[in-house]
Amino acid sequence: MTIRDRPAPRRPRPDVFEEPTLHTERLVLRPFVVADAPAVHALVAAREVADTTLNIPHPYPDGAAAEWIATHAAASAAGAAATYAVTESVRDQAGLPAAGPLVGAVSLVVDRRHDNAELGYWIGVPFWGKGYCTEAARAVVRYGFEVLGLHRVHAMHFARNPASGRVMQKLGMRLEGCRREHVRKWDGFEDVALYGILVSDWRAAAAAPGDRGERAERAPR
Ligand SMILES: CC(C)(COP(=O)(O)OP(=O)(O)OC[C@H]1O[C@@H](n2cnc3c(N)ncnc32)[C@H](O)[C@@H]1OP(=O)(O)O)[C@@H](O)C(=O)NCCC(=O)NCCS
Repeated sequence: MTIRDRPAPRRPRPDVFEEPTLHTERLVLRPFVVADAPAVHALVAAREVADTTLNIPHPYPDGAAAEWIATHAAASAAGAAATYAVTESVRDQAGLPAAGPLVGAVSLVVDRRHDNAELGYWIGVPFWGKGYCTEAARAVVRYGFEVLGLHRVHAMHFARNPASGRVMQKLGMRLEGCRREHVRKWDGFEDVALYGILVSDWRAAAAAPGDRGERAERAPR
């Protein structure tokens, strides 16, 4: 029996208080630690990152990164969210893959009433266009379905942010609609595009021949 054949758990295991490290071909995804705060600040302080996200202030205040990281453990323990630091994979002294420089973040905010979660992400500007967001988010979506037992993952992006929409499409998410001027951002209101993927969609894609993600995200042994 493979991990995919097992019935998905309805609830996260109560003894799991920290998300497990996930390995992809080029990345290591691990929980944030307080020591990441300066690197988080350096990446999210860029106006380009704040501009297309709902909750990142600009200018980015001192101390905000450490405050944000401090919320993760309790949210993870409660099964309310899983937030991953996305790092480049480097080799340790034994030649094994290890977490390198921070490049961004991917999160799932879980609603257990409906067994769904909202996917969110940001990648630091120097690392854009390398496929990192897609690679990291694919691993987190897989984690959401296989380990957290989610039924559905959804996400939204500002209509003027097609790169994020492209990431959602590459994850196999479907466009479900557009909410006109649904959210306020800085001086105006933003149209948002809504995307979603069901566990059944994801299983069908994972079983399809030539599935890239399934092989790429297998943890190195
Ligand atoms: C959106 C974001 C996460 C993408 O990260 P990334 O690592 O560059 O994404 P990837 O490289 O995995 O994929 C980006 C895709 O968008 C495409 N893209 C980039 N700019 C685009 C544009 N203006 N129009 C259409 N597609 C675009 C890329 O070509 C790529 O698609 P491809 O692989 O088919 O060529 C990153 O730009 C970011 O962090 N932006 C600021 C924060 C943000 O917007 N977060 C998401 C909020 S919903």
